[in-house]
Amino acid sequence: MPAQKSQVLAIIGQGYVGLPLAMAAVDAGWTVIGIDNFEAKVSQINSGSSPVEDISDQQLQAAIAKGAYKATTDFSTVSQAAVITICVPTPLDEKREPDLELLRSATKGIAPFVSNETLVVSESTSYPGTLRDVIIPIVNDLKPKESQNLYFASAPERVNPGDPVWNQKNTPRLIGAIDADSKIKALEFYESICDAAVSVSTPEVAEAAKLLENTFRLVNIALINEFTQLCSTNNINVHEVIDAASSKPYGFMPFRPGVGVGGHCIPVDPLYLTWWARQSGVQANFVESADSINQMMPKFVAERALTLVEKKTGSPRVLILGVAYKPGVADVRETPATELRNYLKSKGATVAWHDPLVSKWEGSTSVDLDWDCDVAILATKQPGMDLRALTDRAVKILDCTNSLGNLEGVTAL
Ligand SMILES: NC(=O)c1ccc[n+]([C@@H]2O[C@H](COP(=O)([O-])OP(=O)(O)OC[C@H]3O[C@@H](n4cnc5c(N)ncnc54)[C@H](O)[C@@H]3O)[C@@H](O)[C@H]2O)c1
Repeated sequence: MPAQKSQVLAIIGQGYVGLPLAMAAVDAGWTVIGIDNFEAKVSQINSGSSPVEDISDQQLQAAIAKGAYKATTDFSTVSQAAVITICVPTPLDEKREPDLELLRSATKGIAPFVSNETLVVSESTSYPGTLRDVIIPIVNDLKPKESQNLYFASAPERVNPGDPVWNQKNTPRLIGAIDADSKIKALEFYESICDAAVSVSTPEVAEAAKLLENTFRLVNIALINEFTQLCSTNNINVHEVIDAASSKPYGFMPFRPGVGVGGHCIPVDPLYLTWWARQSGVQANFVESADSINQMMPKFVAERALTLVEKKTGSPRVLILGVAYKPGVADVRETPATELRNYLKSKGATVAWHDPLVSKWEGSTSVDLDWDCDVAILATKQPGMDLRALTDRAVKILDCTNSLGNLEGVTAL
């Protein structure tokens, strides 16, 4: 790629965060090297087929055709870049604690090739101190001797896949840099691709703000999920209550109940917060409690659905509608549909699922809507999901999405 280093950006991780960032940067005039250690994904991307819903094949192909974007597995290419952003997953380990292995290995991958005067930014979500205590020491340990002037910042990604309104360009970006020069470089970079960059005093403030944002969602969803169980026991429609409360013009924000929380962020990031709290000698009881309420929701939903089954003998046949964790995406990471299906099966049900955006999930395939069932659970209402095949034959549906209204045979969660 014959471009000036000053306009070359390297992005580590070409997923839901990295690829849209790459396209936003291409639009802003950057030449982007997209690095990923998953060879098959790199080949797919270079063939012009986008692995994420928010980026169309056409957009990707145009960026490749004008020589402004290329994916690679070769970490040494970061030596051409003025800015390197790290966008790799930060999941939980088997103890449900932060697992920074991918972040560490990505950092080790770039460090030997970081050239002088490069800005290194972490966009991955993690606990406060990750940039300062994990990333910077690795880079400083492994960087070439001649690479003296390096700049570091944390700029947690806020992208909301499938959102038609908010994207990388128009969502203000938080930036916490390690020193004054890093702040100037990071602001310069993000102001070139985003409408607004918000500078905070330290990387730890930016990292903590990201955990607060997603924990705010988790606890509010847990509150409404718990409240839903209370309303359900008392035969009150929770959505009508939420709509009623929403007529208050201040001090209330509506959240809707559902099968639980899913995806790579909301079920995961708050556990980075609870872990961080424990390391600090503080118990984040409120957040832990919210996490357990959300984890119980699939069981509540399953039991509710089974009460709608009329036949009292034999194995109830249950169809789950929508297994992606939210509408508009094919992402099944941490989807609460897993627990829903497991619990239904543990109760002796025969379970199938249908999702127009997901063809394979946990070793099984999506069935057609004419699958014979006693009850269907609408877990995620995918765009274009036409449920007439079920409503026309009066299948009972438990609607966990508040999208079917008062149709005959439909019960709201
Ligand atoms: N998905 C979201 O909605 C979202 C929103 C905001 C923030 N985040 C955060 O952004 C980060 C990335 O999430 P994502 O959803 O884009 O993940 P993703 O799984 O969609 O993509 C990550 C990519 O990184 C690659 N990868 C993993 N380890 C690597 C390594 N060592 N070197 C090079 N490539 C590597 C994977 O192959 C994958 O293609 C996470 O910290 C996440 O919490 C995600």
